[in-house]
Amino acid sequence: MKKDNIVITGGAGFIGTNLAHRFIKNGNAVILVDNLSRAGSKKNLQWLNRTYHGRFKLEIMDLTNRCRLEEVLQSAACVYHLAAQVAVTKSLENPVMDFETNLTNTINILEILRKLDNPPFLLFTSTNKVYGNLHDIILEKSGQRYIPGDRNLEKHGVDEKFPLDFYSPYGCSKGAADQYVLDYSRTFGIPATVFRMSCIYGPHQFGTEDQGWVAHFLIKVLLNEPLTIFGDGCQVRDILYIDDLVDAMVLAYKYSKETAGRAFTIGGGPNLGLSLNEFVNKIQKYCDSFPQVVYEPWRLADQKYYVSNIQRFRSITGWFPKIETDEGIGRLFNWLQLNRELISSEYEKEKIA
Ligand SMILES: NC(=O)c1ccc[n+]([C@@H]2O[C@H](COP(=O)([O-])OP(=O)(O)OC[C@H]3O[C@@H](n4cnc5c(N)ncnc54)[C@H](O)[C@@H]3O)[C@@H](O)[C@H]2O)c1
Repeated sequence: MKKDNIVITGGAGFIGTNLAHRFIKNGNAVILVDNLSRAGSKKNLQWLNRTYHGRFKLEIMDLTNRCRLEEVLQSAACVYHLAAQVAVTKSLENPVMDFETNLTNTINILEILRKLDNPPFLLFTSTNKVYGNLHDIILEKSGQRYIPGDRNLEKHGVDEKFPLDFYSPYGCSKGAADQYVLDYSRTFGIPATVFRMSCIYGPHQFGTEDQGWVAHFLIKVLLNEPLTIFGDGCQVRDILYIDDLVDAMVLAYKYSKETAGRAFTIGGGPNLGLSLNEFVNKIQKYCDSFPQVVYEPWRLADQKYYVSNIQRFRSITGWFPKIETDEGIGRLFNWLQLNRELISSEYEKEKIA
């Protein structure tokens, strides 16, 4: 069997759709695997079908369909494993579902790959949540944000050497899968890489209160609804525009000899860090008046400060984020405006659910 396909699990999700867009546009053979369970995934698929009709293969299936998954993976040169339960909140409501979706499905993929003669490259999308709530970092308040007392940390961010400290069922399921991927690479020689990603944002993101806060805030602004911030809004995140992430994902495969067996913290880095309050200030230009903000108690496992140190990946591939925050937010807001009807209908469905 020819093994030249780029397989993307979760291919109709936010990141999957953008990654598929890049590979299909470049003429690669792409297979998308998705059960269309996430809000917006059907809409993303409709868009991919309209844009690239007949130029990619689609497997609408759950990852638990192991026989079918095995057939698909046998034809792969490269696998981007993105399909997941993506929200801490949902993992608290149903930890077993979270475990099965994130960990069992990942081990099944690893087992299928282990038995292949020449296993394809695998990229697993992990999360900054594997570092826990990072409450050991001493913080000071400066204006509308927290800054670390350790100036070196402020300058460079959290790197891969930080101790793992899984917190919340989501943190555990993603963190355990992250460790299995690295161990299958070490023990069985599967060329696999882990991206520990912070906040990614951009078109095709149907952000909700549970996950995808950048898009969620902009949707609220568009619909003229108040914003809810959990905590005091001084928490800092580094945000990364999707095109920059897609560049990194393509490079991880291109440099697979160097990236295999390693984890990388991937995000906007210190230059693209901002607090939620600062974000609200930035987006007021899209509103008629200053957006109404409601402050609620902190959520479990929330980090007060998380900025990725992106040096390890940069030193191997030369990658660095190119899209400035204002530019990226503007692009996303334009996309949301153009797709206002689509966004409102998904948003209403989510509210009812
Ligand atoms: N977006 C971010 O900011 C971010 C940050 C850190 C990590 N990640 C990780 O990146 C990956 C992609 O995130 P995203 O934002 O694109 O999420 P998303 O929810 O938009 O996409 C996930 C896709 O997986 C599909 N899916 C879920 N369970 C499935 C199953 N059992 N079988 C088949 N398909 C299934 C969903 O329908 C959806 O289309 C996830 O693994 C997530 O944990 C994302």
